[in-house]
Amino acid sequence: MDLSRKQVRALLCKEFVSIFGPGVAPRCALAPGRVNLIGEHTDYNGGLVLPIAIDRHTAVVFRPNGLKSFRIFAAAVKKTGGNPNDAFGLTRAAIPKLGDPKKHWANYVRGVAVALLKRGVKLKGGDLYITADLPQGAGLSSSASLEVAVGLAMLALAGKTMDRQALAFAAQEAEHTYAGVRCGIMDQTVVARAKAGHALLLDCKSLAVRHVPIKLKGWAFAIFDTGVRHKLASSEYNKRRAECEHAAKIFGVKTLRDATVEHLLKLGGKLTASEHKRVRHVMTENLRTAQFAEFIKKGELRELGRELNYSHYSLSSDYQVSCPELDDLMASVQRLDVVSRHLALTCKGARMTGGGFGGAIVALVQIDRFPQISKGLAKLYMKHMKKELGLRLLLTPSAGARVLPLS
Ligand code: GLA
Repeated sequence: MDLSRKQVRALLCKEFVSIFGPGVAPRCALAPGRVNLIGEHTDYNGGLVLPIAIDRHTAVVFRPNGLKSFRIFAAAVKKTGGNPNDAFGLTRAAIPKLGDPKKHWANYVRGVAVALLKRGVKLKGGDLYITADLPQGAGLSSSASLEVAVGLAMLALAGKTMDRQALAFAAQEAEHTYAGVRCGIMDQTVVARAKAGHALLLDCKSLAVRHVPIKLKGWAFAIFDTGVRHKLASSEYNKRRAECEHAAKIFGVKTLRDATVEHLLKLGGKLTASEHKRVRHVMTENLRTAQFAEFIKKGELRELGRELNYSHYSLSSDYQVSCPELDDLMASVQRLDVVSRHLALTCKGARMTGGGFGGAIVALVQIDRFPQISKGLAKLYMKHMKKELGLRLLLTPSAGARVLPLS
């Protein structure tokens, strides 16, 4: 969402006023979505991840309301038939978790308010209008984007600031406690801390961050969304996490980041067959991620493509979080390379991105061939899976969340 455009700012103001009425000029907390380039299912294992923030956002337009409560309106929810209204007070007791599936979205907002209270922030009442050009359920972290944008808006209303990593932890806590997904820290961190034109290399053990410039001369990362989100996603996610934690316990280490070949030799026999595979994925994915960051710096396209492909095979066969639709897109991307001569060598490699069980693949593509690749993939996807290909987007590495005036 481009807030440097006057029309966009005017439209947001108009929508806000149509819900909450006239008053002082509102401000806007803008938070991007994210695509993880590599380092999948490593964050909750204390490992390395390399995501970028993308040029699709959640916007939370906000203004103080002088009440002892928040009033919320979520425009995107209205479009999908959910209940777009919520209101709650400013103390923990006044912010219960909601059971109503039509208002599931509101738990993310409530969870953030509670996480801020727990960190000593004295909340002040405000009206929040939430809208987005970031699709939900496509694996682009719409939830982390919502949490961080809401967090920034609530902090601004309270007249407080917070360290960006601390804000990311508050947002993650909201997801754990109010949405029931035990996610890692990658999504919230990149949403809060990304730098335009860069990928964010995050060490999830030390929380050290390196901004890696992306200059790939005529090449860029793109996503192609399967358009599916399997129901298994969050339960299987929590299961994988539990398997990794169990393996780490057997090895006597805090997280699998510290697992070594020696651990495997000595104690591998105590792991189940699937735990063995999970460990292998995490160990090799950390190595791939470190290498990938180096290859990006050097612009080594072939190596980047190779690491993407390897990461996918590892996620598909060892971590078992892929699905037929993702694997089909992967097969087609490779086929485009070999079979279709005019598209030859336009895609260096690809892999599923995000938690898995649906969502998108991320591919390294030649920028001026993107429309043809998109069309070719959509055709093959329809032929094989009898489904429309979802969102296709050439990615611009974007800046992290920020608060901006609208007038
Ligand atoms: C989801 C979670 C992240 C991370 C990825 C897998 O997006 O929110 O924390 O674990 O899955 O890499």
